[in-house]
Amino acid sequence: MYEPAGPAETRDFARAVRSGLVQPQKVIPARYFYDEAGSRLFEAITELPEYYPTRTETALLAQHAGTIAATVGPGRAVIEYGSGSSTKTPLLLTPLHAAAYVPVDISGDFLAQSAAALAAHFPGLPIHPVVADFTQNFRLPAGIAALPRMGFFPGSTLGNLAPMAAIDLLRGFAALLGPGSWLVIGLDLAPGPGKSVATLEAAYDDAAGVTAAFNLNLLHRINRELAATVCIDDFAHRATWNATLGRIEMHLVARRDTQFTAAGQQVSMKAGETIHTENSYKWTLPESRLMARASGWVPVADWTDPEQRFAVHLWQHNDGAMQP
Ligand code: AVJ
Repeated sequence: MYEPAGPAETRDFARAVRSGLVQPQKVIPARYFYDEAGSRLFEAITELPEYYPTRTETALLAQHAGTIAATVGPGRAVIEYGSGSSTKTPLLLTPLHAAAYVPVDISGDFLAQSAAALAAHFPGLPIHPVVADFTQNFRLPAGIAALPRMGFFPGSTLGNLAPMAAIDLLRGFAALLGPGSWLVIGLDLAPGPGKSVATLEAAYDDAAGVTAAFNLNLLHRINRELAATVCIDDFAHRATWNATLGRIEMHLVARRDTQFTAAGQQVSMKAGETIHTENSYKWTLPESRLMARASGWVPVADWTDPEQRFAVHLWQHNDGAMQP
């Protein structure tokens, strides 16, 4: 059987591609977008005029961090899930008077860089980076054992998870952060009176083609890492709102009949057939509040922009109370 050389990540990728491309609906999990080229393309997406989430969430945090700080109080350890470049973190840390910062990210390189940048910005703040996949169990650093906690989960990153997995993850956060903790979470909103489906779809299919390049990079990555023969030109980017399931779906659509080998697997696709590469769930405010209560949290406050495109939520640990 085909086994690529190199890191465990490449072997996981090969396994995911091999099993995903023999399903009736072909699928490759979104986490494989983020090789070096993909991570750079994602950073470019966050600066696109059509991609409103980053800009909108940053403004909401800037506007409401003072209220958040006044509600949760000083002296907490802030645990950021999927901290990446930590660009939104100072907005929260500045008014919060945190006692420690724990960035958690799967990429060790990224983590070291952004921890160093943050240390320069907040001299005297203890920083304990953790290299981990936050969807798996991990331990908090011993250095923050005695501190009250606040989780920070921005970017609507939860959107990649289907409802059952999302609630499992949020329950895991409640278990790890414990009684007395808080969670600040950014969640993208479903279409509504101020937010059209067109606005939403444009955020995932921008005029400059950066999101298309991000999606198609997955095929380049398959060719680069898995000795594959995909003809990239045979594929097109598609992003559509699935109203029934409440998510944007991204697919790679075969523009004509095409065949290739990837990770030792022969694949043939008919024109119009797709590879499903990403789900990005969107929630109404009541759905988000229900998710909180279904996962061990109590929704305390939420803030949205005037067009109701994006929401920042403040949740409190339910402390095992009956009332939620
Ligand atoms: C990183 C999952 C929040 O769903 O908006 C952006 C990823 N995909 N454009 C999102 C993404 C295409 C992004 N998340």
